[in-house]
Amino acid sequence: MANAKITGTGSYLPKEIRTNKGFESMIDTTDEWIYARTGIKQRHVIADSETCSSMAEIAATQALEAAGISASEIDLIIIGTSSPDRVFPSTACILQDKLGVGDCAAFDVQAACSGFIYGLGIANQFIRAGGAKKALVIGSEANSRILDMSDRSTCVIFGDGAGAVVLESSEEEGVLSTHLHSDGSHQDVLYINNPIAGQKQDGEQAYMTMLGNDVYKVAVKTLGRIVDETLDANGMQKSDVDWLIPHQANIRIIASVAKKLNMPMEKVILTIEEQGNTSAASIPLALDKAVRDGRIKQGQTVLMEAFGGGFVWGSALVKM
Ligand code: UT7
Repeated sequence: MANAKITGTGSYLPKEIRTNKGFESMIDTTDEWIYARTGIKQRHVIADSETCSSMAEIAATQALEAAGISASEIDLIIIGTSSPDRVFPSTACILQDKLGVGDCAAFDVQAACSGFIYGLGIANQFIRAGGAKKALVIGSEANSRILDMSDRSTCVIFGDGAGAVVLESSEEEGVLSTHLHSDGSHQDVLYINNPIAGQKQDGEQAYMTMLGNDVYKVAVKTLGRIVDETLDANGMQKSDVDWLIPHQANIRIIASVAKKLNMPMEKVILTIEEQGNTSAASIPLALDKAVRDGRIKQGQTVLMEAFGGGFVWGSALVKM
């Protein structure tokens, strides 16, 4: 059976940056509160002319270049997003058109902040089963469009951006395992209503709602468990993991997972301070950063983990 190997990465962050200080004049908050509670100093904000698919296009183009393949070779596109261009067609279909990829399977995955891990898990299964040879897996989020900028419990947390990988069928080891979970009984602590289903909030626009502390408590426990599950499934020890790439939701959640792995923070790829929480985009954005700055090297083992609204959570153990 073929393996699925990451052969290229790419990313995109919008030009505009909003600092914590910038929020102080907008809402009742402080730089000190935001940084101490989350680890965030700033986030990137999408321009009016940009969309989820336009950010995905730039990240995907970089990933294709890094992999040394052309868009026409792609036979599967999966985008994890909660802020798509349209309800349908999927942002993956829109991207397929933008990149000029021919006929292939293209769809979005709605798994909130775990969207990239879910996409990676699905693409891995496609490739291992022989249903695809070269896949684009992307996380892209225009979170600013789904935030109520007067709600201090959400608007300071989230940022915009996109990250992409090319996943190719290979004889070499690649994705070692993925572990996908959900528990819909927590649907009311982190959600966005759907205006087209008649669930309007504030007139026409629906915004993200988060009971942050309730999410926090479950996330810490659940992510601790998934570390054990992932290592056990591969017969590996904590010391076999070279890098941790966590979903960048909160530096305190990240530190608790690193502690569980006995991993020093220098071995954790962090983007939260400068990018905030970019939902499904945060893991591929961090991966691309660490591949391009030379920290993550070929042959190393990377543990990725994410947690988000649903709840949905998941992990991937990947040999680079
Ligand atoms: O990515 C998807 C998954 N999401 C997560 O994993 C998020 C997990 N949750 C968190 O990261 C944290 O819960 C937050 C950073 C969102 C909040 O931190 P917290 O330590 O859990 O604070 P809290 O929600 O318990 O709020 C504490 C206080 C409250 O005031 P009172 O009731 O104690 O007077 C809030 O109203 O902080 C207040 N508060 C703020 N104060 C200043 C909430 N947001 C802000 C703010 N600035 N932006």
